[in-house]
Amino acid sequence: MVKTALITGITGQDGSYLTEFLLQKDYEVHGIIRRASTFNTERLDHLYMDPHEEKRKLFLHYGDLSDAGQLTNLVYNTQPDEIYNLAAQSHVRVSFDLPEYTGDITALGTTRFLEAIRKSGADTKFYQASSSEMFGDSPPPQNENSSFRPRSPYAAAKLYSYWMTANYREAYNIFACNGILFNHESPRRGETFVTRKITMALAKIKLGLQDKLYLGNLEAKRDWGYARDYVEAMWLMLQQDEPDDYVIATGETHSVKEFLDEAFDYAGLDWQEYVEIDSRYFRPTEVDVLIGDAGKVRKKLGWKPKVGFKELVRLMVDADLKKEELRQHGYANHKRDEDYVVP
Ligand code: NAP
Ligand code: GDD
Repeated sequence: MVKTALITGITGQDGSYLTEFLLQKDYEVHGIIRRASTFNTERLDHLYMDPHEEKRKLFLHYGDLSDAGQLTNLVYNTQPDEIYNLAAQSHVRVSFDLPEYTGDITALGTTRFLEAIRKSGADTKFYQASSSEMFGDSPPPQNENSSFRPRSPYAAAKLYSYWMTANYREAYNIFACNGILFNHESPRRGETFVTRKITMALAKIKLGLQDKLYLGNLEAKRDWGYARDYVEAMWLMLQQDEPDDYVIATGETHSVKEFLDEAFDYAGLDWQEYVEIDSRYFRPTEVDVLIGDAGKVRKKLGWKPKVGFKELVRLMVDADLKKEELRQHGYANHKRDEDYVVP
């Protein structure tokens, strides 16, 4: 039997890797995309299948986490075996500027989805993209038993979704799991998250196209893993007999400064000559240290990360350097990172 998955946030970093992963497993994949005045499917372009293709396995539908009626229609019409709720206003700094919108999408959007499952009576498993940001200033290392002390509107919204997912599991017996994922990056990472911001700027600096990089707090420490590894953990959670919540992390932490050291050293440059601090990138409240203890997922699901910190930094630098070089040679629309880097 061919399995069917429905993915929100399919156009994002994780959505694109998860789609690749599921297509390789022969799933039929349905993704929800937002209508936009410009194309927002760049990360999926290499997977796109013409609607006239007979053996099409990837289907995109318009929808939005603000539109409960359409979510119910899509769950009802696709009758998925698995739902992955990856959509969110996912930027922590932006959530301080847009606290209400972040609550509407990142928090209430999950409830709309859970209600869509309940009302449509679909027999489906549900994955919720929860976040290590929910731990806030809870002392590291953080695991499934650590207290949640959210320090941003984004984290508070994710925490609401975390508890709603747990509640629907208990109240309505829905197979619903929270993946509490620590930061994970890749050449497809959004361009305003710190790792990608650094590797993109570094590529331009290396090619003499830029001479300054403005950043905020360089002391913050994150547990950075590779996104491609992490989507496998999402899938594994939904293949179990019982639903549960799992921390996904590498167990290592590095500061933003250490990321700069690693990236610029690799490119043969000294970041201190280029980086300047701009207070606009500071957050009103910061999460200082995240270190995940992923012992539970390792023991119960046998999952562990394959790519470490150094390798992650290097593959991101390599990909952005290649991209920038190609752009200089006029390949502006040559966008698939597979063409630049073989991870
Ligand atoms: P991302 O690249 O920012 O992607 C977010 C996705 O959500 C995009 O596809 C975006 O669509 C979609 N989206 C935003 N608002 C929407 C709305 N109102 N309705 C429907 N779709 C909407 O995020 P990511 O890094 O892949 O992360 C995936 C999920 O995991 C997010 O929920 C994030 O908060 C969570 N998470 C991420 C990390 C991490 O380190 N990456 C760690 C823990 C948890 P557009 O393309 O149209 O903008
Ligand atoms: N974005 C950004 N831009 N962050 C900066 C900058 C900058 O110029 N300078 C320093 N930082 C610091 C931030 O203050 C933060 O401490 C750290 O770099 C990481 O910031 P982001 O890359 O924006 O990620 P995040 O940790 O806030 O959030 C990401 O990870 C969460 C999981 O812990 C996002 O992917 C969230 O969606 C995810 O839930």
